[in-house]
Parts: sequence; C-alpha cells; structure tokens
Amino acid sequence: MRKKVTVVGAGNVGATTAMRIIEKELADVIMIDVLEGVPAGKALDLCEAAPVEGHDCKITGHTATYGEAKDSDIVIMTAGIPRKPGMSRDDLLSINMGIVSSSSKKIASVAPNAILIIVSNPLDAMCHAAFDASGFPKNRVIGMAGILDSARLRAFIAMELNVSVENIHALVLGGHGDTMVPLPRYSTVSGIPITELMPPDRVESLIERTRTGGAEIVGLLKTGSAYYAPASAVVEMAEAILKDKKKILPCSAYLEGEYGINHLFMGVPVKLGANGIEEIVRIRLTDEEMKALHHSAAAVRSVVDDMKRVV
Ligand code: NAI
Ligand code: 2OP
Repeated sequence: MRKKVTVVGAGNVGATTAMRIIEKELADVIMIDVLEGVPAGKALDLCEAAPVEGHDCKITGHTATYGEAKDSDIVIMTAGIPRKPGMSRDDLLSINMGIVSSSSKKIASVAPNAILIIVSNPLDAMCHAAFDASGFPKNRVIGMAGILDSARLRAFIAMELNVSVENIHALVLGGHGDTMVPLPRYSTVSGIPITELMPPDRVESLIERTRTGGAEIVGLLKTGSAYYAPASAVVEMAEAILKDKKKILPCSAYLEGEYGINHLFMGVPVKLGANGIEEIVRIRLTDEEMKALHHSAAAVRSVVDDMKRVV
C-alpha cells in the first residue's frame, strides 16, 4: 500500500515539501491549510506537473478538514506565520503555539499512529506544544532544524574551500536559534576535520554565518523566511522514516537525561527509522562543547517557560 504524508500549512515550506515528496515518489500527500482555495489550487497545480515530472503520486489540498489526514504515516507541521525582518523566532511564540497545539490535537484524533515532524517556529518550543497536545510518545514527535543548520554549514564550507558539497559532512546541535552549537571537530571534508583545512578565524566566520543563516535569508527575501533548504531537510527526515533507513541525523528530540539535559526538546544526533526516533546517539563532547550545548538548552528552556506563561 502507498504511504501517506499530510503536510499542515500549504505555504512556502509546506508546498515545497509536498512537491519534493511526490517528485521523489515517497508517498501520496494531503495538504491542509486554513486558507480558502490555496491548498487545493497548489495541489491541482502539482497534479498537472506530474505527467511532465513523471510520477504517479497523488496530492490533494484541503481547507481546515483534518479528516483527510486519516491514518497518515507522517504528518509534517509547517502551519504558522514565518519570521519577518526584525522579528525574532521567539516573537512568533504565542501565535504559532496556538496554531501548532490545536492542529496537533486534531491530527492525533485522526492519525493516532502518525509520526509528527515539526517545522513551525520557534522550533524546539513548538515541539513541546505538539508533544503535549498530541499525547504522542517521544519517539513520534521530532523537530526539523539540525539538518537545515548543518546543511547551511556544509554549503558554506563548500563555498570556502571550492570543493563538492558531496564531500562534506557537518554537525550542528542545540536549539534552533542564535545559541545553536556548530561542531567543527565533527565537520569534515572527505573525513578531514575542517579545523585542519582552514585557519581558526575562517572556521569562526563560517560558524557565525551558520548561526545567522536564517536571518540572512530573511534579510534578503524581506517578505518571509527560507523554504527551499528547509523543505529539503524535512524531506530527508521523511524519507529516512518511510524507507526505515536508520539514518543518523541531527533533529530536535525530547531528552530525558541524555547529554545531561532533562525534559527538553533539543537538537542532538538521532537514528531515524520506521519508528521515528529509534535512538538518541550520544557523541563525546569536549567540556567547551558541552558548556555551549547547556547554554543553548537554557535558551530553549526559557522559551518553553515563556510559552507556559502565555497559556
Ligand atoms: P508561510 O506563511 O509561507 O506558510 C505558513 C502557512 O500556514 C500559511 O499558508 C498559513 O495560511 C498556514 N496556516 C496558518 N494557520 C494555520 C492553521 N491553523 N492550520 C493550517 N495552516 C495554517 O510560512 P513558511 O515559510 O512556510 O514557514 C512555516 C513555518 O515554518 C514558520 O513558522 C517558519 O518560521 C517555520 N520555519 C522553520 C524552519 C526550521 O528550521 N524549523 C525553517 C523554515 C521555516
Ligand atoms: C530558518 O532558519 C526561518 O528558522 C528558519 O531559516
């Protein structure tokens, strides 16, 4: 039987994600949005591209009708408002919390066995909102950010060294915000750490560009935030789950003591397979790296606490 993925929010990230899923023939897709006509219009447009693109996946779009998400294997939550210039991710908190909570509750009632991938910002806090509202176990609520942040660092390394992006791995942990923790020791070109390939000030400059990567795009677009790279990142997660690939990827996961962090969603390496998060991978960190991770955890916790106050 075909797999089914529901994408909540048919905006820039949602529609691009839906497009990549069907073009890769990973699953049939349902798009849900509050806007009248938009999800149906984008879905029809994508159906009409299918004969040229050469795939047979089905896609439909619906306005606020969650019944269509029934028995989805994966639900990708992109509903919300994007960051505007001058707006921090945390400014989005109260609006997006209401949207993600009510939507996750509806999803849980129609697709109780789905794996929920959260994209809406502020990311790690929205994972908490979805986790609480859905009642899903922790292996089935996963946040997308680390793959995007790592991909940005990979792209910047490739530009700096003029080498193929295919040679580059990078690892960014922590919360999806200014305190994220890029790890140069675990960022390599064909297995060689970047610390051996460029001077420390260049490494530092790429790390800084990664930390502000989201804001750099917002500053250029002016009317919204990044969506091509975010969609690629979320599709990598969906593919790992749908194909039970057991891929190790940095994702926001609910921690219960791992890395000395408790009851908090944070970006860490996880193994993604058919059961969602199948393992939280523990890597060795230096004292300095661990300190940075805990600093990031404190920043995420303060947003989560703010969210509780808003309620
Ligand atoms: P967008 O504005 O293009 O799309 C959001 C869509 O959500 C809109 O079509 C809107 O009508 C819809 N929506 C609003 N309330 C809804 C509800 N209750 N139910 C269903 N749909 C609803 O925004 P974009 O660029 O697609 O970004 C979506 C979210 O993802 C934002 O919160 C953004 O900050 C976040 N984001 C997170 C990233 C990450 O790394 N985690 C990367 C990129 C974006
Ligand atoms: C980004 O990093 C908006 O969080 C989003 O591009």
